[in-house]
Amino acid sequence: MKIIVVENYEQLSNEAAKIIINQLQKKPNSVMGLATGATPMGMYEALRKAYANGEVSFKDVTTFNLDEYCGIDPNHPQSYHYYMQQNLFNHIDVKPENVHLPSATSDWNSAAKSYNDLLKQTKIDLQVLGIGSNGHIGFNEPGTSFEQETFVVELAEKTRLDNQRFFNSLEEVPRFAITMGIKNIMQAKQILLLISGKNKAKTAKRLLEGKVGTDFPASVLHLHKSVTIILDEDAYGLAK
Ligand code: GLP
Repeated sequence: MKIIVVENYEQLSNEAAKIIINQLQKKPNSVMGLATGATPMGMYEALRKAYANGEVSFKDVTTFNLDEYCGIDPNHPQSYHYYMQQNLFNHIDVKPENVHLPSATSDWNSAAKSYNDLLKQTKIDLQVLGIGSNGHIGFNEPGTSFEQETFVVELAEKTRLDNQRFFNSLEEVPRFAITMGIKNIMQAKQILLLISGKNKAKTAKRLLEGKVGTDFPASVLHLHKSVTIILDEDAYGLAK
Protein backbone atom coordinates (compact mmCIF):
# COMPACT_ATOMS: atom_id res chain seq x y z
CA MET A 1 0.00 0.00 0.00
CA LYS A 2 1.45 3.34 -1.01
CA ILE A 3 0.44 6.22 1.27
CA ILE A 4 0.73 9.80 0.02
CA VAL A 5 0.02 12.59 2.49
CA VAL A 6 -0.53 16.07 1.07
CA GLU A 7 -1.23 19.38 2.74
CA ASN A 8 -4.76 20.07 1.64
CA TYR A 9 -7.73 19.16 -0.53
CA GLU A 10 -6.47 21.04 -3.57
CA GLN A 11 -3.21 19.11 -3.55
CA LEU A 12 -5.07 15.85 -3.03
CA SER A 13 -7.24 16.62 -6.06
CA ASN A 14 -4.27 17.55 -8.25
CA GLU A 15 -2.27 14.51 -7.15
CA ALA A 16 -5.20 12.19 -7.92
CA ALA A 17 -5.75 13.81 -11.33
CA LYS A 18 -2.04 13.44 -12.08
CA ILE A 19 -2.20 9.69 -11.40
CA ILE A 20 -5.18 9.35 -13.75
CA ILE A 21 -3.54 11.46 -16.45
CA ASN A 22 -0.37 9.33 -16.23
CA GLN A 23 -2.46 6.21 -16.56
CA LEU A 24 -4.25 7.57 -19.65
CA GLN A 25 -1.00 8.73 -21.22
CA LYS A 26 0.48 5.26 -20.71
CA LYS A 27 -2.67 3.47 -21.85
CA PRO A 28 -5.12 5.71 -23.76
CA ASN A 29 -7.77 2.98 -23.89
CA SER A 30 -7.78 2.39 -20.13
CA VAL A 31 -10.83 1.07 -18.36
CA MET A 32 -11.45 3.41 -15.45
CA GLY A 33 -13.52 2.73 -12.36
CA LEU A 34 -15.03 5.98 -11.14
CA ALA A 35 -16.43 7.17 -7.83
CA THR A 36 -18.85 9.89 -6.75
CA GLY A 37 -19.33 11.76 -3.46
CA ALA A 38 -17.84 15.08 -2.39
CA THR A 39 -14.24 13.84 -2.20
CA PRO A 40 -13.44 13.33 -5.91
CA MET A 41 -15.08 16.60 -7.06
CA GLY A 42 -11.78 18.50 -7.03
CA MET A 43 -10.10 15.68 -8.93
CA TYR A 44 -12.79 15.88 -11.62
CA GLU A 45 -12.30 19.64 -11.79
CA ALA A 46 -8.55 19.12 -12.32
CA LEU A 47 -9.29 16.53 -15.03
CA ARG A 48 -11.66 18.92 -16.80
CA LYS A 49 -8.91 21.56 -16.81
CA ALA A 50 -6.31 19.08 -18.05
CA TYR A 51 -8.64 18.07 -20.88
CA ALA A 52 -9.35 21.71 -21.78
CA ASN A 53 -5.58 22.36 -21.90
CA GLY A 54 -5.06 19.42 -24.21
CA GLU A 55 -3.06 17.42 -21.63
CA VAL A 56 -5.29 14.37 -21.79
CA SER A 57 -7.93 12.76 -23.95
CA PHE A 58 -10.68 10.34 -22.95
CA LYS A 59 -11.71 9.41 -26.47
CA ASP A 60 -10.67 5.76 -26.09
CA VAL A 61 -11.42 5.45 -22.38
CA THR A 62 -14.14 3.22 -20.97
CA THR A 63 -15.65 4.03 -17.58
CA PHE A 64 -17.57 2.04 -14.99
CA ASN A 65 -19.02 3.82 -11.98
CA LEU A 66 -19.16 2.15 -8.62
CA ASP A 67 -22.75 2.69 -7.70
CA GLU A 68 -26.12 4.41 -8.11
CA TYR A 69 -29.07 5.09 -5.82
CA CYS A 70 -32.15 3.00 -6.50
CA GLY A 71 -35.41 4.58 -7.49
CA ILE A 72 -34.24 8.05 -8.47
CA ASP A 73 -34.30 9.23 -12.05
CA PRO A 74 -30.94 9.61 -13.85
CA ASN A 75 -31.84 13.30 -14.29
CA HIS A 76 -32.37 13.81 -10.57
CA PRO A 77 -29.69 16.27 -9.38
CA GLN A 78 -28.60 13.80 -6.68
CA SER A 79 -28.36 10.78 -8.95
CA TYR A 80 -24.84 9.61 -9.67
CA HIS A 81 -25.68 9.67 -13.40
CA TYR A 82 -26.31 13.39 -13.10
CA TYR A 83 -23.24 13.90 -10.91
CA MET A 84 -20.97 12.25 -13.48
CA GLN A 85 -22.45 14.24 -16.37
CA GLN A 86 -22.03 17.52 -14.49
CA ASN A 87 -18.61 16.85 -13.00
CA LEU A 88 -16.94 15.11 -15.91
CA PHE A 89 -18.68 13.54 -18.88
CA ASN A 90 -20.31 16.72 -20.27
CA HIS A 91 -16.91 18.39 -20.43
CA ILE A 92 -14.67 15.74 -22.01
CA ASP A 93 -14.47 13.63 -25.17
CA VAL A 94 -15.43 10.27 -23.66
CA LYS A 95 -17.82 8.39 -25.97
CA PRO A 96 -21.29 8.05 -24.40
CA GLU A 97 -21.36 4.37 -25.37
CA ASN A 98 -18.20 3.80 -23.32
CA VAL A 99 -19.73 5.18 -20.13
CA HIS A 100 -21.36 2.75 -17.69
CA LEU A 101 -23.30 3.21 -14.48
CA PRO A 102 -25.75 0.82 -12.86
CA SER A 103 -29.27 1.60 -14.07
CA ALA A 104 -31.45 1.59 -10.99
CA THR A 105 -34.78 2.96 -12.16
CA SER A 106 -36.68 -0.35 -12.23
CA ASP A 107 -36.13 -4.06 -11.55
CA TRP A 108 -33.09 -3.36 -9.41
CA ASN A 109 -32.00 -6.98 -8.99
CA SER A 110 -31.83 -7.70 -12.70
CA ALA A 111 -30.08 -4.33 -13.27
CA ALA A 112 -27.47 -5.36 -10.68
CA LYS A 113 -27.01 -8.69 -12.44
CA SER A 114 -26.60 -7.06 -15.88
CA TYR A 115 -24.02 -4.66 -14.46
CA ASN A 116 -22.14 -7.53 -12.88
CA ASP A 117 -22.19 -9.42 -16.19
CA LEU A 118 -20.70 -6.38 -17.92
CA LEU A 119 -18.00 -6.08 -15.27
CA LYS A 120 -17.10 -9.73 -15.68
CA GLN A 121 -16.29 -9.09 -19.34
CA THR A 122 -13.81 -6.36 -18.55
CA LYS A 123 -10.79 -5.61 -16.40
CA ILE A 124 -10.63 -2.23 -14.69
CA ASP A 125 -7.15 -0.72 -15.00
CA LEU A 126 -7.55 1.92 -12.31
CA GLN A 127 -10.37 2.12 -9.80
CA VAL A 128 -10.91 5.40 -7.94
CA LEU A 129 -12.51 5.13 -4.51
CA GLY A 130 -13.73 7.39 -1.75
CA ILE A 131 -14.57 6.03 1.67
CA GLY A 132 -17.69 6.33 3.81
CA SER A 133 -17.22 7.36 7.42
CA ASN A 134 -18.21 3.80 8.42
CA GLY A 135 -15.54 2.38 6.10
CA HIS A 136 -17.80 1.60 3.17
CA ILE A 137 -16.35 1.50 -0.35
CA GLY A 138 -18.80 1.94 -3.19
CA PHE A 139 -21.89 1.27 -1.10
CA ASN A 140 -20.54 -1.92 0.47
CA GLU A 141 -21.63 -1.37 4.04
CA PRO A 142 -20.04 -2.95 7.15
CA GLY A 143 -20.79 -6.66 7.27
CA THR A 144 -20.61 -7.18 3.50
CA SER A 145 -18.72 -10.32 2.47
CA PHE A 146 -15.44 -9.78 0.65
CA GLU A 147 -16.81 -12.24 -1.96
CA GLN A 148 -19.82 -10.03 -2.72
CA GLU A 149 -20.40 -9.10 -6.38
CA THR A 150 -22.63 -6.28 -7.70
CA PHE A 151 -25.88 -6.21 -5.71
CA VAL A 152 -28.78 -4.21 -4.36
CA VAL A 153 -27.78 -2.93 -0.94
CA GLU A 154 -29.90 -1.49 1.83
CA LEU A 155 -28.01 1.59 2.93
CA ALA A 156 -26.81 1.83 6.52
CA GLU A 157 -28.52 4.48 8.64
CA LYS A 158 -25.11 6.15 9.11
CA THR A 159 -24.66 6.42 5.33
CA ARG A 160 -28.13 7.91 4.86
CA LEU A 161 -27.41 10.43 7.62
CA ASP A 162 -24.01 11.30 6.07
CA ASN A 163 -25.58 11.79 2.64
CA GLN A 164 -28.56 13.74 3.92
CA ARG A 165 -26.51 16.90 3.32
CA PHE A 166 -27.09 16.48 -0.42
CA PHE A 167 -30.89 16.17 -0.08
CA ASN A 168 -33.65 18.33 1.39
CA SER A 169 -34.43 15.83 4.16
CA LEU A 170 -33.45 12.40 5.46
CA GLU A 171 -36.75 11.08 4.09
CA GLU A 172 -35.58 11.93 0.56
CA VAL A 173 -32.31 9.97 0.84
CA PRO A 174 -32.83 6.68 -1.01
CA ARG A 175 -32.86 3.53 1.11
CA PHE A 176 -31.32 1.27 -1.49
CA ALA A 177 -28.54 1.42 -4.06
CA ILE A 178 -26.88 -0.80 -6.62
CA THR A 179 -23.18 -1.11 -5.97
CA MET A 180 -20.24 -3.00 -7.39
CA GLY A 181 -19.38 -5.60 -4.79
CA ILE A 182 -16.12 -5.81 -2.91
CA LYS A 183 -15.05 -8.67 -5.15
CA ASN A 184 -15.54 -6.53 -8.29
CA ILE A 185 -13.57 -3.69 -6.73
CA MET A 186 -10.71 -6.00 -5.73
CA GLN A 187 -10.41 -7.25 -9.31
CA ALA A 188 -9.17 -3.85 -10.52
CA LYS A 189 -5.50 -3.85 -11.47
CA GLN A 190 -4.82 -0.71 -9.44
CA ILE A 191 -6.82 1.15 -6.83
CA LEU A 192 -6.63 4.81 -5.86
CA LEU A 193 -8.37 5.77 -2.62
CA LEU A 194 -8.90 9.41 -1.66
CA ILE A 195 -9.51 10.49 1.93
CA SER A 196 -10.03 14.13 2.83
CA GLY A 197 -11.08 16.20 5.80
CA LYS A 198 -11.17 16.05 9.61
CA ASN A 199 -14.47 14.20 9.51
CA LYS A 200 -12.65 11.23 7.92
CA ALA A 201 -9.71 11.25 10.37
CA LYS A 202 -11.09 8.44 12.57
CA THR A 203 -11.95 6.41 9.47
CA ALA A 204 -8.44 6.89 8.06
CA LYS A 205 -6.88 5.90 11.37
CA ARG A 206 -8.94 2.70 11.48
CA LEU A 207 -7.93 1.88 7.91
CA LEU A 208 -4.24 2.58 8.40
CA GLU A 209 -4.11 0.45 11.55
CA GLY A 210 -4.15 -2.44 9.13
CA LYS A 211 -6.68 -4.75 10.80
CA VAL A 212 -8.67 -6.56 8.10
CA GLY A 213 -12.32 -7.42 8.74
CA THR A 214 -15.77 -7.24 7.14
CA ASP A 215 -16.87 -4.85 9.93
CA PHE A 216 -14.77 -2.23 8.10
CA PRO A 217 -15.09 -2.90 4.34
CA ALA A 218 -12.19 -0.68 3.16
CA SER A 219 -9.80 -2.83 5.20
CA VAL A 220 -10.02 -5.40 2.39
CA LEU A 221 -7.69 -3.08 0.44
CA HIS A 222 -4.82 -4.37 2.57
CA LEU A 223 -5.22 -7.62 0.61
CA HIS A 224 -4.80 -5.92 -2.79
CA LYS A 225 -1.35 -5.73 -4.36
CA SER A 226 -1.55 -2.25 -5.90
CA VAL A 227 -3.30 0.37 -3.79
CA THR A 228 -2.40 4.05 -3.47
CA ILE A 229 -4.05 6.14 -0.78
CA ILE A 230 -3.91 9.92 -0.91
CA LEU A 231 -4.84 11.70 2.30
CA ASP A 232 -4.77 15.35 3.19
CA GLU A 233 -3.33 16.46 6.55
CA ASP A 234 -6.79 16.80 8.06
CA ALA A 235 -7.68 13.20 7.25
CA TYR A 236 -4.24 11.92 8.28
CA GLY A 237 -4.24 13.82 11.58
CA LEU A 238 -5.14 10.95 13.94
CA ALA A 239 -3.13 8.28 12.09
CA LYS A 240 0.29 9.88 12.59
C1 GLP B 1 -20.91 7.77 -0.88
C2 GLP B 1 -20.53 6.90 -2.09
C3 GLP B 1 -19.13 6.41 -1.97
C4 GLP B 1 -18.28 7.54 -1.43
C5 GLP B 1 -18.63 7.78 0.01
C6 GLP B 1 -17.96 9.00 0.62
O1 GLP B 1 -22.09 7.43 -0.27
N1 GLP B 1 -21.38 5.80 -2.37
O2 GLP B 1 -18.68 5.94 -3.22
O3 GLP B 1 -16.93 7.21 -1.51
O4 GLP B 1 -20.00 7.76 0.21
O5 GLP B 1 -18.50 10.16 0.15
P1 GLP B 1 -17.91 11.60 0.40
O6 GLP B 1 -16.73 11.72 -0.47
O7 GLP B 1 -19.01 12.54 0.01
O8 GLP B 1 -17.56 11.67 1.84
